[in-house]
Amino acid sequence: MNGTDMLIEARGLNTCYGASHILRNVDFTVGRGETIGLMGRNGMGKSTLLKTLMGLVKPRSGSVAIAGKTMTSRPPYEIAQRGIAYVPEGRGIFGNLSVVENLKMAARPGTRGQRDWTYERVLETFPRLTERLGHGGQQLSGGEQQMLTIGRALMTNPDVLILDEATEGLAPLIAKEIWRICSLIRESGISSVIVDKNWKHVTQITDRNVILVKGEVVFEGTAAALTAQPELIERYLGV
Ligand SMILES: Nc1ncnc2c1ncn2[C@@H]1O[C@H](COP(=O)(O)OP(=O)(O)OP(=O)(O)O)[C@@H](O)[C@H]1O
Ligand SMILES: [Mg+2]
Repeated sequence: MNGTDMLIEARGLNTCYGASHILRNVDFTVGRGETIGLMGRNGMGKSTLLKTLMGLVKPRSGSVAIAGKTMTSRPPYEIAQRGIAYVPEGRGIFGNLSVVENLKMAARPGTRGQRDWTYERVLETFPRLTERLGHGGQQLSGGEQQMLTIGRALMTNPDVLILDEATEGLAPLIAKEIWRICSLIRESGISSVIVDKNWKHVTQITDRNVILVKGEVVFEGTAAALTAQPELIERYLGV
């Protein structure tokens, strides 16, 4: 892989909140076209890792390179400009803007000038949003809000889409729709990092999976490698 095929390369990350040492020497990479599952129980550091990659939290040590350039602790908008779209836990759409406005204000070409994801293509991908175009963000159901945040992220034509808690709190049918969309995104060639409690769904669409336990990577591998170790699933992902 050359510099630009390695879209995210984090090495030796240590992140703390005050005196609490959360991430411990975490290495984490995303190559072009890769879909990565990031898993682990509550409070194990998944969101902290994503926030550290995005520049929302500064690591105490370690480095984050985006598309071959060191970007450790740079502001989130600079990370986004280098092609990383981030959908945080609990979403964060503009409730006072309509669906159309939320989508259109995000529109921009990607890092290589690509404009693959247009307003029309996003609406084709999310037929439910088409029925809600004039609605304000706060009038949408949780599932529609999640579709809108993913749609908005796609409007930026990212190289990597980071999705924290992809389906949390969503009804099963809506969750299924989100998984379908994750597959479409994968097929379109965009890399993604997907956090979700449902490891069975996650591993169906990932190339590689990373499990965090107390801020440390305890497993990294394919779905086949993971399912070959049921004791690992029981220990680190079981509920
Ligand atoms: N802003 C903060 N200040 C202090 N501690 C925090 C802060 N954010 C998270 N933590 C703590 O850091 C640890 C890791 O939290 P994090 O949110 O990264 O976990 P997570 O794996 O995303 O969990 P979940 O599955 O619940 O989303 C937890 O112990 C959490 O309580
Ligand atoms: Mg989290």
